[in-house]
Amino acid sequence: MAKKYMSDIHLEEYAAEYEEKKALYKDMVFTGGRDALSLNGAWNYAVDQYDTCLRQKWFKERYQDERGFTLPVDYSFDEWPVMELPRCWNVFAAEYLLYEGAMVFTRRFAYDTTQGGRCILRIGAASMLCRVFLNGTYIGMHRGASTPFFFDVTDLVEEDNRILLCVDSTRRPEQVPTENTDWFNYGGVFRDIELLRVPAVYIKSFHVSLVPDGKFDKLSVKICLSEQEDGNAKFQLRELGIAEEIPVKNGTGEIAIDAKPRLWSPEDPYLYDVSAEYSDDRVSDRVGFREIRVCGRDILLNGKSIFLKGISAHEESVANGRALTDEERMENIRLAKELGCNFMRIAHYPHHERMAKMADELGIMLWEEIPVYWAIRFDRKETYEDAQNQLAELIERDYNRASVIIWSVGNENADTDSRLSFMKRLADHAHHTDITRPVSAACLVDEAENKIADRLADSLDIIGINEYCGWYSPDFERLPALLQNSDPEKPVIITEFGADAMRGNQGDPEKKGTEEYQAAVYERQMDTLLKIGYIKGISPWILYDFRCPRRTSSIQKYYNRKGLLDETKTYRKPAFYVLQKYYRRISSC
Ligand code: GCU
Repeated sequence: MAKKYMSDIHLEEYAAEYEEKKALYKDMVFTGGRDALSLNGAWNYAVDQYDTCLRQKWFKERYQDERGFTLPVDYSFDEWPVMELPRCWNVFAAEYLLYEGAMVFTRRFAYDTTQGGRCILRIGAASMLCRVFLNGTYIGMHRGASTPFFFDVTDLVEEDNRILLCVDSTRRPEQVPTENTDWFNYGGVFRDIELLRVPAVYIKSFHVSLVPDGKFDKLSVKICLSEQEDGNAKFQLRELGIAEEIPVKNGTGEIAIDAKPRLWSPEDPYLYDVSAEYSDDRVSDRVGFREIRVCGRDILLNGKSIFLKGISAHEESVANGRALTDEERMENIRLAKELGCNFMRIAHYPHHERMAKMADELGIMLWEEIPVYWAIRFDRKETYEDAQNQLAELIERDYNRASVIIWSVGNENADTDSRLSFMKRLADHAHHTDITRPVSAACLVDEAENKIADRLADSLDIIGINEYCGWYSPDFERLPALLQNSDPEKPVIITEFGADAMRGNQGDPEKKGTEEYQAAVYERQMDTLLKIGYIKGISPWILYDFRCPRRTSSIQKYYNRKGLLDETKTYRKPAFYVLQKYYRRISSC
């Protein structure tokens, strides 16, 4: 077919070229203490249901043919309507609530190219895929809806620029997560968009932690540079009078420093200001020093056995979908603390990085998770690469967060050989990447044997168990039997139990869906679980009701109603007070 202007209409493999240049965890840049040029704010946008932007290459902005004749174009970037980003388009306008597909966002921005250095574009999260174009050139793409991604755009950025983001929220079976989940699929660019100006050679990674040797008297500091060069970096922790040189070889340097810091805990969330310098670059962070590790069936925080009084939570608000404000994050943490929690299971995907930073400050421990959820394509190489990259991005993003105590490699996956191989590799990757945190997953019960018997447990430090005795498994008596039948060698966290209840649906405590039935499930669950020695934590499902397209019954109305509060987070169901009663009785240690 002659390559005419409209030749795209015959193109079937138009997307192949946009699979190239993937942004990966190795492209990440440490952001703490850096000035950023924010690109948040007004962006022009268009719904692009047929992916015409990619097919016709709108980003090339070709308005004339070779002979200077004007061409008809199917876009008007600067005349398109405006959306303030970050935003989930589903809650931006009623007509977009259920829209799943591609949306194109564009804006212009000025950049001072006379300042030198390198220019790094950072996007906090875009769901599910995001292709990036700058000044007519395809920059690259990112897979995954919940982790930040970076592109070095130094060679393309000009004084006056046009950026184009082609965001595709389509659910697909080969993605992570797949097309079938129990939560709402929000679309959009829903975390910050910014440009970082960094020196020619800069600090890409800055890891600070306590050496996990049970002595609490040594800090570990690791630096990675953007270039494989030799030199000396400098680490500072003024409050402890620390100023140490870090010899850098081939772009990396690591030292252990004798120090006895005030240890971080939920009761005493003490943080220190730290900084690192190399040549013209300087980064900083606020970090807590704590040790979390497993010993036998115990979870030890700073050497003391603890009990994780938790609650699970999605990242959602009625007004903003996934794009929570800091006030909404603060509200979630405050509600968890009102329940008596020292722990939150951040499900089922990485939440905004601000959540862990606020948890550091406010003193609550977090379980963070990648969305390897239900029936992932466990036998597909590219799917594994996608999952591992999201895990690596999460670990790199939150490595310095004291509040993050557990990495979870997934949720409720049937115990098959291909799943075991896939998730064992993920658990091994997490252990290899981060020696300072235990690794877990929310596993299923062996229904036939009614016992904890997931083969993945051999690769985990802590066994998460989702069980719904009294709900999906209506015979509550299966719970005491399950717990008696099981004899795990490791600590277990009951990562989910619960029951639906519609706000105000009161009446028969024997009737599923009433507030009384939900409260009775919590009473029986907590009374039973707290008698079991190997259970070292509980994070019931879930803090508040959340949007869910799978839930259409008369009490659900497209919401999952297992919340202890309703979706507005203003109405506390009776089960809220049942859990609070039990948590108030338990000391954390
Ligand atoms: C599962 C799953 C949750 C889901 C919950 C439910 O355990 O992990 O994502 O929302 O059960 O069915 O309500």
